[in-house]
Amino acid sequence: MSGIPHDHYEPKTGAEKWLHSRLPIVSLMYDTLMIPTPKNLNWMWIWGIVLTFCLVLQIVTGIILVMHYTPHVDLAFASIEHIMRNVNGGHFIRYLHMNGASLFFFAVYIHIFRGLYYGSYKAPREITWIIGMLIYLMMMGTAFMGYVLPWGQMSFWGATVITGLFGAIPFIGESIQTWLLGGPAVDNATLNRFFSLHYLLPFIIAALVAVHIWAFHSTGNNNPTGVDVRRGSKAEAEKDTLPFWPYFVIKDLFALAVIMVVFFAIVGFMPNYLGHPDNYIEANALATPAHIVPEWYFLPFYAILRAFTSEVWVVQLASWITGGIIDAKFFGVLAMFGAIAVMALVPWLDTSSVRSGRYRPMFKWWFALLVIDFIVLMWLGARPAEEPYATYALIASAYWFIYFLVILPLLGVVEKPTAQPETIEADFDAHYGKAETPAE
Ligand code: HEM
Repeated sequence: MSGIPHDHYEPKTGAEKWLHSRLPIVSLMYDTLMIPTPKNLNWMWIWGIVLTFCLVLQIVTGIILVMHYTPHVDLAFASIEHIMRNVNGGHFIRYLHMNGASLFFFAVYIHIFRGLYYGSYKAPREITWIIGMLIYLMMMGTAFMGYVLPWGQMSFWGATVITGLFGAIPFIGESIQTWLLGGPAVDNATLNRFFSLHYLLPFIIAALVAVHIWAFHSTGNNNPTGVDVRRGSKAEAEKDTLPFWPYFVIKDLFALAVIMVVFFAIVGFMPNYLGHPDNYIEANALATPAHIVPEWYFLPFYAILRAFTSEVWVVQLASWITGGIIDAKFFGVLAMFGAIAVMALVPWLDTSSVRSGRYRPMFKWWFALLVIDFIVLMWLGARPAEEPYATYALIASAYWFIYFLVILPLLGVVEKPTAQPETIEADFDAHYGKAETPAE
């Protein structure tokens, strides 16, 4: 599978040979588990396993919830109350599912920023990155539709606001919006299709995860130095790597256990901390909540969406050039999707020949600012749309685009990288000391 030379599975007994010639499944499992993995991977490489765990957790708890949930506007809210009060362990399963979504997004953001710092998106891992971005988009769609299902006030009004954005697309927007909703407004048809898609998408995500893993197994993992594993011979490759089993499996499981302690503390002691109290009020089309706020993981992009009002000169310019076709609302929608698009295009925007941020003295600072920018945007997304937040949001949104479209392309030209280690082994030995060769 991987281009890194390593031992392959050899069927020995008659039964093994029989199976292998018909379905080489043991060989596939062996190659996956024993794949040579750079031995210097740090704790930022645990999040992929956490994400895999989250996906399984969401599917299992989701399937159990569906056994008691009713996707109908008259019954959805009551069926959730029924799960919380009457179903054995129902409140626990629901809290696992609710907070599991938050853990999923927490992990995916660290996973993405890890990739952005260590240049994991760079050649030859562009496909791993793009598949990752598709997964991320699908996660957003799934979470958005899932939030509508309890049919609380935020479910209803969140769905109204977000589907309304599609109405901002010139000419065809209204038709798209009606098509998405299954009618002129958020109603039973909307709830039903969201339920159907919310159930379907996680399985598509699971298939994409398989392709994601296939892709980085084909190129081999990146690592904190960004330096490639030596591939000249098996002996050489073995100096830079360890098989995934047992070392990395145990390391990942240990990290997962630590994260589970925090996760279960939240699920057990403060399960509604990240939620909005208004969602415990049944949806009412005649009463708009004072502030419609999305879940925390959408806030950075929600802040970008709202930042571009009709007072901003770029918006006015765009509107003037297009004869009013691009108005402030549509501009906001373009900016929100554009913010994700520039991140997806990062393999082609970053011009540096050096992969890891460790050896890029200028990049480090701009990257740190990007992380701060993301957190500030998250904070701003939950503030009311008024001064001074509106100006802050505009500056923070501008930085997001400038980082990807201007700073990254320029840095590759002007920055002088520091010395990279010759090999992964050299970096490892420098950190942990050279391993003693056992006496003969
Ligand atoms: C359901 C969501 C996802 C799952 C289950 C998942 C799983 C994994 C796993 C298991 C790894 C290898 C180990 C590790 O780095 O932790 C990995 C690597 C990677 N992932 Fe993801 N991932 C997901 C989403 C994403 C997203 C949204 C991106 C960003 C676009 C992304 C980009 C990458 C990249 C670039 C690597 C390669 C890192 C390397 O080679 O070391 N992944 N992913």
